[in-house]
Amino acid sequence: MKTWGETIVDPVVNSLMGSFLERGEADLVQEFTHSYPFEVIYEQLNLPRSDVNTFQRLAIGQTDFDHMAQAREAGVKLGHYFKSLIDARRAEPGDDLVSLLANTEVDGDHLPELVLISFLRQLMNAAGDTTYRGTSILLTALLRNPDQLEALRQDRSLIGAAIEEALRWDGPVLTQLRVAVKDTELGGVPIPAGSYIDVVAGAVNRDPSLHENPDRFDIHRKRLAHYSFSRGPHICVGQHLARVEMTRALHAVLDHLPNLRLDPDKPEPLIRGMMMRVPEHIYVRFDR
Ligand code: HEM
Repeated sequence: MKTWGETIVDPVVNSLMGSFLERGEADLVQEFTHSYPFEVIYEQLNLPRSDVNTFQRLAIGQTDFDHMAQAREAGVKLGHYFKSLIDARRAEPGDDLVSLLANTEVDGDHLPELVLISFLRQLMNAAGDTTYRGTSILLTALLRNPDQLEALRQDRSLIGAAIEEALRWDGPVLTQLRVAVKDTELGGVPIPAGSYIDVVAGAVNRDPSLHENPDRFDIHRKRLAHYSFSRGPHICVGQHLARVEMTRALHAVLDHLPNLRLDPDKPEPLIRGMMMRVPEHIYVRFDR
């Protein structure tokens, strides 16, 4: 992960920022956070540049639940795409993630094809969409609390705490669906086996019995634990990369955008969303 931070994340972040540094103003969502985690994935997978648009269209299309038939078709096509990519990287391996997964052996066997394809197929939504949202929320929280942004400028060792606190305060993924495997009871409510349960991470993250003054964003909090990467066997497998990405993004913001502040002439960022949350814009100004 550390190596990827330097070889993949930094170049992506610096190249995106380079496009607006001279202007002294930007929309940090549309010009930065919305793109950087996706660019990181393309680099990780070493996708041919000519395939990026098709890949993006299919990956987004497969979760378009308002159009189920097209969503399924997109998922199937994406599976075919990855099948040929896996074959190509087995024939000629590189140092990308597809080559690594395609050539990994467990007890002398490759990973089952269905597992490989399913993993790759969800990467763009699991890794890109979430990290773009998480970074946007982190920047919104810091810009709304300029004293805490200044504290980070003075002491970069607070970056880790700022990331965890942003994930707690308004994590990008609010709910996870679970199925009860046996009869149980939660908070006095009987839950029969087979029930669907919406586990609301947002409620745990703002539980006043766990976090003092839970609605307040505070990077100096003593307890930084949160539920935003879920728990149990399906805990986010990409959480370490997400932290590396958000750390590098924050360093770049502190390095390149002096006197960063919300643009007083534009609307303030508004974090919205039921299941997944993000502000649509973060209009800022900074010294050139
Ligand atoms: C801030 C960024 C991120 C957040 C908030 C986040 C959140 C989550 C959550 C809540 C789950 C559990 C879903 C469930 O239990 O139903 C999950 C699973 C997963 N995440 Fe992340 N994620 C982030 C970044 C990433 C990244 C960067 C990657 C990949 C490199 C990634 C890959 C995955 C995968 C593959 C799973 C499924 C694990 C499994 O089912 O065993 N995530 N993530």
